[in-house]
Amino acid sequence: MEAPFVLPRAASIEEPLRLAVLISGGGSGLSSLLSFQSSKPRCHRTVLVIADSENAGGLEHGRGAGITTMGIPLPKGRQSTQRRLAHESMILRQLKSSGVELVVLSGYMRILTPSFVAIWKGRLLNIHPSLLPDFPGAHAHRDALAAGVQTTGCTVHLVDEGVDSGPILAQREVPILPDDDEESLQDRVKKVEHTLYPEIIDLFCSGGVSLEVLG
Ligand code: GRF
Repeated sequence: MEAPFVLPRAASIEEPLRLAVLISGGGSGLSSLLSFQSSKPRCHRTVLVIADSENAGGLEHGRGAGITTMGIPLPKGRQSTQRRLAHESMILRQLKSSGVELVVLSGYMRILTPSFVAIWKGRLLNIHPSLLPDFPGAHAHRDALAAGVQTTGCTVHLVDEGVDSGPILAQREVPILPDDDEESLQDRVKKVEHTLYPEIIDLFCSGGVSLEVLG
């Protein structure tokens, strides 16, 4: 049986929800969230940044903001499932020791195991650069261009045991222009992600998302 969604407590400015942000790359989404959080009092604050590599450029955003920030690479030398579980158990330890209440995936390029998802289900958010359920997976822009659609976008959703398949909290459309390549499209979609994700995180943390969206 699949684990139920258990939402975080409704937070307030006085008692902000403690967020961890997981990244893999440049962390422009992390940077936009940190700017949003520092622009005025919010009901959430980022207390931990983790990348799945010690070289992820986005780690600088966490360090620059004085947040506990670390690269945790996949451990070497074990069978693949065991490595993933060992990796996740290192992450879980850090989430626990920082008292994290909500995990925000922001360009985190690993698929989490069902055992990780079960622990955080309902308190685990992702943003995906397409209008789900269209174009899930790691190559959303390439797939949208190959399909010849004229509109794509981004989706904020709760993470479940599948790939980009959890309940959708919000979507925003972005046009595809005739001359677009993957890079130009990614840049245009990211600009929209950078406003949508902080807004929806804010709504979610303040208790503005009801269990009804979870079906
Ligand atoms: C974003 O487009 C996100 O939706 C996707 O990866 C990208 C991450 O970009 N999953 P960045 O590392 O935040 O710049």
